[in-house]
Amino acid sequence: MEVTLSVIKADVGGYVGHSSSHPDVLQKARECMERAKKQGLLIDYYVTACGDDAQLIMTHQKGEDDEQIHKLAWDTFVECTKVAKKLKLHGAGQDLLADAFSGNVRGMGPGVAEMQFEERKAETVVIFMADKTASGAWNLPLYKIFADPFNTIGLVIASNMHSGFIFEVEDVLEAKKIKFNAPEEIYDMLVFLGSPSRYAITKVFHKESGEIAASCSTQRLALIAGRYVGKDDPVCIVRSQSKFPAVGEMLEPFASPNIVQGWMRGSHHGPLMPVSFHDARATRFDGPPRVIAAGFQLAKGKLIGANDLFDDPAFDEARHQANLIADFLRRMGPFEPHRLPLEQMEYSNTPEVVKRLAPRFQSV
Ligand code: F6R
Ligand code: MG
Ligand code: MG
Repeated sequence: MEVTLSVIKADVGGYVGHSSSHPDVLQKARECMERAKKQGLLIDYYVTACGDDAQLIMTHQKGEDDEQIHKLAWDTFVECTKVAKKLKLHGAGQDLLADAFSGNVRGMGPGVAEMQFEERKAETVVIFMADKTASGAWNLPLYKIFADPFNTIGLVIASNMHSGFIFEVEDVLEAKKIKFNAPEEIYDMLVFLGSPSRYAITKVFHKESGEIAASCSTQRLALIAGRYVGKDDPVCIVRSQSKFPAVGEMLEPFASPNIVQGWMRGSHHGPLMPVSFHDARATRFDGPPRVIAAGFQLAKGKLIGANDLFDDPAFDEARHQANLIADFLRRMGPFEPHRLPLEQMEYSNTPEVVKRLAPRFQSV
C-alpha cells in the first residue's frame, strides 16, 4: 500500500514568550485533523509541539505537495492562530507569512517534510522535530546516520545497506540542488554539508533500491519574509530498520550534541539538546536549541505511536554535555562564535548600526 507521510509545522504563537505551545492551540489542531480524518482525507494524524512550533503529522494517499493536504494544514494553522490571538499568545500567527492560501504551503511560512512510499511489512519511521534552530541542522546527524560507519555499523555489516545512500542537497540561497553518492563522494559532499547555513540535506535515498530514506524541511523563514521573523525550526522524517539504519543508529548522533544556529533571537550558536516531549520547552536564554524524536510503526497508514525516543536516561549524558556547552558559549556573551558572524546577522538590527556608523570609519 502506497502511503504519504506529511509533516507540516508552524509557530502560530508561543506560551509564554517563544518557549512552548499552549494546550488549547494543540487541541484546536487535533479537532481540525479529526474532521479531515472523518471526511476521509487523512488516514491518520498525530499532533504535537516542539517548543513554540505546532507539528501536524499526517498520513494519507494523496502524494507529496498535494493541494488538499497543504490547504488542510494551512487552514488548521489559521484556526490555531485564532485561538492564539484570543489568548494573546506571543507572536500569534507569526509563521503564516501569506494573507491567503495559494496551492502549496511551501514559501508561505510553514515548514514541510514529506515522503511517499510503499508501506513495508514493518514500517518504522522516526520524526525529528527541532526548535530554535535553522534548516541545515540535520546535515551533521544525517551524514552520521547514512554515511558514517563509526555511527552506523549497518553500513559495514548489513548487506542490504552496504552499497550506501544518495544525498540530495539544496543550496538554500540560490534554490539549486545536487545529488551525491555516499560513500564514493563523501569528501566532495562534505565541502557543502559542513556549511549548513547555506547547504541543507533535503532527501536521502537507499542507493540499491532508489527508495526514499529521509526527507527534511528546508524552508528558510528569513529568506521568505525578507527579515527575521523567527527561526526555521526544521523537521525531518527518517525510515528505519531492515535496509535503512536501525532506530539506535538514527538516535546515536544525538548522543554527542552538535552546535547549531538559532539560539536567542536566531542570532546565536548553541548545543542541540535531545529531550523528551515534556522537556521540549525553550527556557534558558530562549533555548538551548532542542530536538525531539517521535517513533512510529505504520499499520496501513495508521500511526502507531508516538514513542518518545529521547525520553531515556541513555541521553542524560548528552543533555549534561549540552548544558556544559551552553555554559561555555554563554560566557562569550555578544562575541562570535557564540553570536553568529556579522554577515549572517543581516536580519537583525546590525545592518542599521553598521550603516549609521559607516561615515565615522576612517581609512588606515
Ligand atoms: C524566537 C526566538 C526568540 C525571540 C526573542 C525575542 O524563535 O528565538 O529568542 O527572538 O524572544 O522575541 P520578540 O522579538 O518576539 O520579542
Ligand atoms: Mg515563536
Ligand atoms: Mg520555534
